[in-house]
Amino acid sequence: MKRFRMMLLTILFCVMGTNMIMGQQMPAPQIIPEPVSVQVVIGKFTVNPETVIRASGAGVDNSVNYLREYISNCYGLSLEQSKKKAKANCIVLEIKKDKKAVEGAYSLSVSPHTITITGYNESGLFYGVQTLIQLLPVDSKDKNLNIQAIVIEDEPRFEYRGMHLDVVRHIFPIEYIKKYIDYIALHKMNYFHWHLTDDQGWRMESKSHPRLNEYGAYRESTIIGVFPGTGVDHTRYGGYYTIEEMKEVVEYATKRYVTVVPEIDVPGHSMAILAAYPEFGTEPDKETKPATTWNIYNRQNNVLAPREETFQFLEDVFNELMDVFPGKYIHIGADECAFMWWKQDPLTQQFMKEHNMTDEAQVQAYFSKRIHETVSKRGRVALGWDEIIDHDAPKDMIPLVWRDARSAAKAVKDGYYVIQTPMKYCYLNAKQREDEKDITYPMAMTSIDKVYGFELIPENLAEDEQSRILGGQGCMWTEYYESPERIDYSVLPRMSALSEVFWSRKENRDLEKFKVKLQSQFLRYDLWGAHYCDFERRAR
Ligand code: ACM
Repeated sequence: MKRFRMMLLTILFCVMGTNMIMGQQMPAPQIIPEPVSVQVVIGKFTVNPETVIRASGAGVDNSVNYLREYISNCYGLSLEQSKKKAKANCIVLEIKKDKKAVEGAYSLSVSPHTITITGYNESGLFYGVQTLIQLLPVDSKDKNLNIQAIVIEDEPRFEYRGMHLDVVRHIFPIEYIKKYIDYIALHKMNYFHWHLTDDQGWRMESKSHPRLNEYGAYRESTIIGVFPGTGVDHTRYGGYYTIEEMKEVVEYATKRYVTVVPEIDVPGHSMAILAAYPEFGTEPDKETKPATTWNIYNRQNNVLAPREETFQFLEDVFNELMDVFPGKYIHIGADECAFMWWKQDPLTQQFMKEHNMTDEAQVQAYFSKRIHETVSKRGRVALGWDEIIDHDAPKDMIPLVWRDARSAAKAVKDGYYVIQTPMKYCYLNAKQREDEKDITYPMAMTSIDKVYGFELIPENLAEDEQSRILGGQGCMWTEYYESPERIDYSVLPRMSALSEVFWSRKENRDLEKFKVKLQSQFLRYDLWGAHYCDFERRAR
């Protein structure tokens, strides 16, 4: 039925459009991520100050507001919304709920008189708006915005399409967090993984444990240069987000169909906790401070000790986290915990004996199990870095595979659903080419070609196992990124490449075509006021 309607529309537009454009050439549409099907037809629609947006019914407001704001901010046009039928010069936004449709599915048709975006669910309508935005001219100073007549059917390939941001090594203003969420939405991604705690700082307000903010949120100094560095800057650094600010971010994200996935990273990466509450660690009498350097794991970072007071603390702070963040996923960290501290701590050894544990991996598994209980009690799903699969975590936890994409297959075969974020392809803090001048992670080079070439489904998965790969995520660790401009530089344009990896059909992905489309995307970044990396921008 859908296909028949599309054919009809195509024929109709060809007939209607031919005379109206008199051979005028329109640039080919440059849509990122590439939709499922795109059919260019003859004709054009012109958005001008008289164009109205027609939308009514439940669930349309977010999309209408987003479109109006975008056109106003980027083109200075303020379009009226009308609930009445208009014969022409009208953009129709509608939701036709279809239970069989994938979340995010939509169709879009542009004819000389009308643009119609049909979402088969609420987020689908929003993604249709994102596509329409990309059909607008990128370098128009005119108040008449010509849009190519076109018919598009589209839906995402993967259900989890995320971007992460570390706000511990460097913290960023709420206004930038919102801008980052806009980048996520503009790329039809739907999860924002907010890395809120680590060795160098605790970044969420805690009413139950205020010392986390007083002592855990500030470090005395920061290393200068690439690790191990050339010294420290002797400047106090830190801060945290208030509950009100975090709620504001959740509300902002929700209007863009982005779910915030907050992370408290334990039982390793806990120096900021131990600076505030040393009694939760394996060396309660030793003074610990938030780390002032990077690469703190294995031998250097003390870890949480398996004691009832510690588990009570974790229950409190994870409950506080869930009070603020309503999304279904809660990230509990679980990466890079140094077992040597548990090995040398008599109380941990005693705990292991009492619980019939023979090695320290079981202590880590016990931490996961306890936090999983707290999270599950409130109907949420616990995520963890992929160390959880080494430690036999509960099977309804979801690992984010970061060390090696190949272990995703093992995790699936062990019975987990999986999110792919392997550092080789998805860590966007790596340098972008060999002669990169700016300071980045020196160990790795992740070109845009490499990012684009990543395939989320490992080769050795059977058909029925493939659906256990929920999707993927780009990660942005911020040791060497101290400002919003530097974050922009590192995520754009590689995030655009990832958006095709997460959204587009495999057979629709084409690196050369993507690089051509990127030339328009650079102009869009300019419209967004983004400070992107322009290595791939061609001379015009
Ligand atoms: C990680 O990069 N330690 C998850």
